[in-house]
Amino acid sequence: MSSLRDIKVSGATRLAGQLHLPPDKSIAHRAAMFASLSEEDSVIDGYSMAEDPQSTLSCLQDIGVEIDVEPSARYPGTQNIHVHGFGRDRWQQCSFDEGAVLDCGNSGTTMRLLLGLLGGAGVSVIVDGDDSLRSRPMGRVLKPLSRLGVISETGNGSGKAPIQLVGKRLSSSQQEGMPIEFELEVASAQVKSALLLAGLFHPEGVAVREPEQSRDHTERLLNLQKDNHGWIRTSSLTPCQALSFDIPKDPSAATFWAVLSAIHPDVDIQAPGVGNNPTRTQIFEVLQRMGAQIAWGIDTTDTKTNVKANVKAVIEPKGSLTLRSLGKGQSLQPITLAGDQIPGVIDEIPALMVAMAFADGDSEIRDASELRIKETDRISAMASVLEAAGVSFQEKPDGMIIHGQPNFHPSPFVVDALHDHRIAMAAAILATCCRPNEAPSIIKGGSCASISYPTFFDDLGSLQTL
Ligand code: S3P
Repeated sequence: MSSLRDIKVSGATRLAGQLHLPPDKSIAHRAAMFASLSEEDSVIDGYSMAEDPQSTLSCLQDIGVEIDVEPSARYPGTQNIHVHGFGRDRWQQCSFDEGAVLDCGNSGTTMRLLLGLLGGAGVSVIVDGDDSLRSRPMGRVLKPLSRLGVISETGNGSGKAPIQLVGKRLSSSQQEGMPIEFELEVASAQVKSALLLAGLFHPEGVAVREPEQSRDHTERLLNLQKDNHGWIRTSSLTPCQALSFDIPKDPSAATFWAVLSAIHPDVDIQAPGVGNNPTRTQIFEVLQRMGAQIAWGIDTTDTKTNVKANVKAVIEPKGSLTLRSLGKGQSLQPITLAGDQIPGVIDEIPALMVAMAFADGDSEIRDASELRIKETDRISAMASVLEAAGVSFQEKPDGMIIHGQPNFHPSPFVVDALHDHRIAMAAAILATCCRPNEAPSIIKGGSCASISYPTFFDDLGSLQTL
């Protein structure tokens, strides 16, 4: 990561304008990786210049995939990438010098999905990342992959990076003709995807079923269907087609502005081209239930059909978002989220906690202990942010109870973003609601927002220049 900077954020009187949000990073990682699996070339426009999706591109290039990158003519601040189809055979032939390392930076999705692909293809290489990524559990991917025959070694069996993959071709399962079944314990799109990707190299393949629906970008981009019993299957016979695809803007990035519109008295923001795949939009439904003024309109930015080269169907839908403050005298309603409501909003909970601080009563998040093993412990990180700003709350092992107050004015605060992009942006949104004549808040290392949203602080500034 480039060297981190502290960021000062002052209270704002009014925030209005149109935003060009960053491209969706979950989709970007997958589009680039899956394009490499095809025998033909793919063109992906609107590729994200954020650090995480760039880690995926550099890993693919280190693996030997040829990728031509140029600035996008249609989506400013993004890239148009031409991925020269590498094909499954070339993945299997790929070899590295002993000790060679693939650096996934801060990106958990890059690491977990590549473990599936490299493990499935039988490549020997070390997969590593930054200190934060080295602290995250990879056993949840490596353990099920080992059932397919993928061999990996982690220091002292820690299940954490650096991970040495010991390449071996996957062979037929004991019960020939039967796919290997994985009933997942956690609804994780990364684990589901890693297994489905490894399955692409397995003669009988895999069948994966998750306890709750997690984001379905892998299924959409690889054209996989869930059967009536919830099983999703891949095998070495699953076709991997070329992509001709524009990446929608990131709904998780839009969430910060949606929360801002819900907690600040004078906001009017438009964001065109935002992904509205139903597995990603639960956060907007939650905020709407709290009373936020969020409206989806038809997207007019789509100048090219968002389709697979030879499948005439929309792969990832998008829409245009309008975000406005609540009407005078209205206040946000408190809400409780738990159980199967959590996986669909897991990335958005730091921002949602900020909204809860402004609700008329107590809100609660339960069953969200997953947050403790994200880029940082996001429950504890948000507890520090809320405490510094004067919010009243109780931290729980698996979530938080937040005692909201309508018309709340945070006190200017100083917090550390802890190298976590979503903590930096959640803190910034909160700081924007301090009184404009007070001292600015300081977000230490706040520039880490660039991991997913390189222009976040520029956008925050541009909304205030009327
Ligand atoms: C992601 C899946 C989610 C999410 C992460 C991106 C993906 O993680 O939190 O930011 O792109 O598949 P889990 O799969 O661990 O829930």
